[in-house]
Amino acid sequence: MRILSGIKPTGRPHIGNYLGAMRQHIELQNEGHECLYFVADYHALTTIRDGETLKEYRRGVVLDYLALGLDPNKVTLFYQSDVPEHAELQWILSTVTNPGLLERAHAWKDSVEKGKRDINAGLFMYPVLMAADILIYQSDFVPVGKDQKQHVEIARDIAIAFNNFYGETFKLPQDKIEKEVETVLGTDGQKMSKSYNNTISIFADEAEIKKQVMGIKTASIDLKDAMPIKDDIILSLYKQFSTPKELQELEAKYSDGGFGYGNAKKALLEKLLSFFEDAKIKRAKLESSKEIEIIMEAGAKKASKLAWQTMEKVYKKTGLR
Ligand code: ADP
Ligand code: TRP
Repeated sequence: MRILSGIKPTGRPHIGNYLGAMRQHIELQNEGHECLYFVADYHALTTIRDGETLKEYRRGVVLDYLALGLDPNKVTLFYQSDVPEHAELQWILSTVTNPGLLERAHAWKDSVEKGKRDINAGLFMYPVLMAADILIYQSDFVPVGKDQKQHVEIARDIAIAFNNFYGETFKLPQDKIEKEVETVLGTDGQKMSKSYNNTISIFADEAEIKKQVMGIKTASIDLKDAMPIKDDIILSLYKQFSTPKELQELEAKYSDGGFGYGNAKKALLEKLLSFFEDAKIKRAKLESSKEIEIIMEAGAKKASKLAWQTMEKVYKKTGLR
């Protein structure tokens, strides 16, 4: 089974990214699949307008993943732009893509509906580049959060369109989404996202994480009363980082009353800090390491080889060679 996913380097990761995508990516490396993960730097160009920033974020994603446990001996990790055939295939795929398909893409529709001024044709083409990323490696599964489901479906539709025109060329990919964490909620109760300013960071310093956790929106109830367990953001996050017994204990404190949201937030904060403590130390050590560049070069080499196998077929079928 070939697993592929891309990670956009647009800032520091939050626990929504971790639970929805990164954790799954790391676990899959131990399940005997062939895993390809890349830093989607071409995609990031639709929003990041400063070379130094992009460079820093690109490397940052690699540090994040390695610190959290991704093992470059078990997976192929690379920068998307080190395999420029992704962009070449994007163009070829765009010629079989109905623009209506792209107009219906949630992310694009959302930008247009909100009247965002900084839209660009790159954002419109985003799903086609993503299709190229996926199809060029003949990927079986694409582990992502729910917000990316439609993009994987579009990749499938584009593969079908190409196969219809030119004959069987691309494998049809499928998304791989963990139901329980498909949409992790942020501190304001909406989907946790960098764009909503409601995130809880993984690698920020303790004071910042504390501020984020203490800012979680809660119901206003009297301290002596029981706190409702259902749909509670604190509990839903706590659950992901604790044992069932620890969760039960916290739930009991909710039901007993006299506990208060301040204490619940403190319990979550402690959990998060201890859960990511080792990763933080590892990340700081890796920061000045020259190893990263070697890992990325080796990854690009492996990925290029695979990408070429597909491109040769594409050239032949389209008549480009
Ligand atoms: P953001 O919305 O913060 O910009 P990205 O679009 O960079 O996040 O998402 C990176 C990965 O993390 C994707 O696979 C996405 O599906 C997943 N992801 C992002 N936010 C969440 C969330 N709140 N819950 C579950 N998965 C998420
Ligand atoms: N669009 C994805 C995101 O915003 C990142 C991405 C780019 C991706 N190319 C991909 C994910 C290919 C999976 C497969 O998170």
